[in-house]
Amino acid sequence: MMKKTVCVIFGGASSEYEVSLMSSSSIIRNLDSEKFDIVTLGITKDGRWFLYSGDVAGIESNTWAEHPDNRPAFISPDKGTSGLVILEKDGGCSIRKIDVIFPVLHGKNGEDGTIQGLFQLSGIPYVGCDTAASAICMDKAVAHSLLASANIEQAHYLWFYADRYAANGEKIRNKISARLNFPVFVKPANAGSSVGITKVSDPEKLDAAIRLAAENDSKIVVEEGIVGQEVECAVLGNRGRSEASIVGEIGAAAEFYDYDDKYKNGAAQLFIPARLDPEIAEEIRKTAVRAYNLLGCDGLSRVDFFVTTKEKKVILNEINTLPGFTSISMYPKLWGACGVPYGELLEKLIGCALTRDTL
Ligand SMILES: Nc1ncnc2c1ncn2[C@@H]1O[C@H](COP(=O)(O)OP(=O)(O)O)[C@@H](O)[C@H]1O
Ligand SMILES: [Mg+2]
Repeated sequence: MMKKTVCVIFGGASSEYEVSLMSSSSIIRNLDSEKFDIVTLGITKDGRWFLYSGDVAGIESNTWAEHPDNRPAFISPDKGTSGLVILEKDGGCSIRKIDVIFPVLHGKNGEDGTIQGLFQLSGIPYVGCDTAASAICMDKAVAHSLLASANIEQAHYLWFYADRYAANGEKIRNKISARLNFPVFVKPANAGSSVGITKVSDPEKLDAAIRLAAENDSKIVVEEGIVGQEVECAVLGNRGRSEASIVGEIGAAAEFYDYDDKYKNGAAQLFIPARLDPEIAEEIRKTAVRAYNLLGCDGLSRVDFFVTTKEKKVILNEINTLPGFTSISMYPKLWGACGVPYGELLEKLIGCALTRDTL
C-alpha cells in the first residue's frame, strides 16, 4: 500500500489550545510512520498557521511556534490544489499534497465546524464530524433543543443571549429561579474543557456566574444540577455505521469535573468499565449511538451522560466531537478496553475519513 500523507493540525485559536498540544503530541507519537507520512501544521493561539518541521517535544512544551524553520502555510480551499500552500523563504510558494487531514483541535475554531468548512471546500478527506454536526454539538443550546425533540433525557435547562441579559438581567434571573432548582450550572453555550462554567448554589451568585460565562460566548445555558455518576461512552464510525464502546466513569475530585481535574491534577479517577448495572450501561450505549446519528456525527465523538443516584435515570450531558486524545484520555482508553489499541484506533479514524461518502 502507498503511504498516505496525513496532515495533523494542532494548537488552534481556542481556550483549549493547550489541551490540543497534549492530544496532538500523543497522536503524532502513535501514528505508524511505516504507513503514514506525517505533516504537522500548527495554529497559534492567536490564529497564525505554520508548517512545523520540528519534533513532537516542541509541540508538547509549546515552543514549536519559535522554530526557525516554520513556514506560513495554509490549506487551500481550491479543490485542484488538494493540499497545503507553503510560503517559502525566497518569496515563492510551494504545494504539499495531503491525502487526509487529522484536525486535533478542541473547542472554538477547531471543533465547532469553522475549520471543517475549509476542509470540505478543499476536497481533502478529514477525520471527524463535518461542519453541521460539529457546530450543532458544540452549541449546548442547539444540541439540547434537537435532542429534546427526540425525547432524549437531559437536565432541565434554559438559554439566552448575553446581550439580552445585559439589557434585562433581573428578568432572566427571575426566570431561572422560577424554572430551575438550585444548584444550577451556568455555562457558555460554546466552550469546552469546563472553561467559564460555574456551579451556583446561591441565587445571589447567579449574576457573577453569568458574567463569567458571557466572557466566553455570546450565548449562555443554565442547567439544573444533576446528582449522580458522570459517565462517558466513545462512539466510532461514520453516521449509521457507528459503534459504541463500553461505558467509562469519572470520579471527580473537585466540586465538578473542572479544567484542572481534566488536565492538571490528574485528580479525576477513571473507572473502566463504569460502576453500573449492565442494563443501564446498555441503555447508555444505545442512547449514545442514537444521539450520534441524530446529530449527524461521523468518525468519532464522546457522548457524556449522568446517571442519577436515586432513580438511575440516564441523562445526556453533551457530545464532544473531538474529545481529549492523550493516551490517558477517556476516549482512547475506552476503545483500548474494547480491544482496539491507540495506534489501531487512529487508523480506524483515518479509514472513516477516507470512506465517508459526503465529501
Ligand atoms: N447539569 C449538571 N449537573 C451536574 N454537573 C454538571 C452539570 N453540567 C455540568 N456539570 C459538571 O461540569 C462539568 C463540565 O460541564 P460540561 O457541560 O461537560 O462542559 P464542557 O463542555 O466544558 O466539558 C461536567 O463534566 C460535570 O462535572
Ligand atoms: Mg464535558
